[in-house]
Amino acid sequence: MIYLKTLEEIELIREAAQLVSKTLGYLAPFVKAGSTGKQLDKLAEEYIRDHGGDPAFKGYHGYPASLCVSVNEVVVHGIPNNEPFKEGDIVSIDCGVKKNGFYGDHAFTFLIEPVAPEVKKLVQVTYECLMLGIEQASVGNRIGDIGYAIQQHAEQNGFGVVRDLVGHGLGKNLHEEPEVPNFGRPGNGHLLKNGMVLAIEPMINLGKYKVQQLKDGWTIVTADKKPSAHFEHDIAIINGKAEILSTFEFIYQAIGKPDFIR
Ligand code: MF3
Ligand code: CO
Repeated sequence: MIYLKTLEEIELIREAAQLVSKTLGYLAPFVKAGSTGKQLDKLAEEYIRDHGGDPAFKGYHGYPASLCVSVNEVVVHGIPNNEPFKEGDIVSIDCGVKKNGFYGDHAFTFLIEPVAPEVKKLVQVTYECLMLGIEQASVGNRIGDIGYAIQQHAEQNGFGVVRDLVGHGLGKNLHEEPEVPNFGRPGNGHLLKNGMVLAIEPMINLGKYKVQQLKDGWTIVTADKKPSAHFEHDIAIINGKAEILSTFEFIYQAIGKPDFIR
């Protein structure tokens, strides 16, 4: 069942999404060599609670933290740990918030420079995939159009598109229908309508698309252990087209806009 949201409900989701955005901006200066995922997780939980929200991931199906911190070959759902970040790492930070009964959920991949050129290219292309997917989220298009745009761009650049994890609807629940795969065929899948709210989240691998889950029951890694990047925005379809409810602007204000983002 796909719940179409009213404009009032979309405003509440925007509030939750913006708190995630601010949390990522608050964390951004700490995403540097020597910092750990555990440190970021503690900062995030405090920040979210101080701003009237609850961490959405903590306790979700038993997930133990407020953030997913996914370094290099970790695709998503990395559990924050005490391993210090180092130069050359790419770090996806995914954060979810519940506020006023609604969820926000978004993610950004940070570079700990200097990062190898091919890895930086992966991060850039993954960001571009997100924006190309969002452009397709308009009334009259279908879910498959979003996935097709993402897959085309990733594969044209020689990268692998993760199949086993997908984007999703969100609202009063963190995960709602429809699923939003990062692959697909034009004209396939659910018709997009005004009032749909979607988390679009390309997960793109430098190598092959295959992934594995570690024994902790959460961490998803690439099967070939090559790096993977991940970006996520929450969007609402309003007046026929996608409006982005989350923002990376707080990150850019904190640490500057990375040179791979135009
Ligand atoms: N953005 C991720 C997702 O939609 C975050 C979920 S982490 C979890 O799958 F712990 F909450 F599962
Ligand atoms: Co998500």
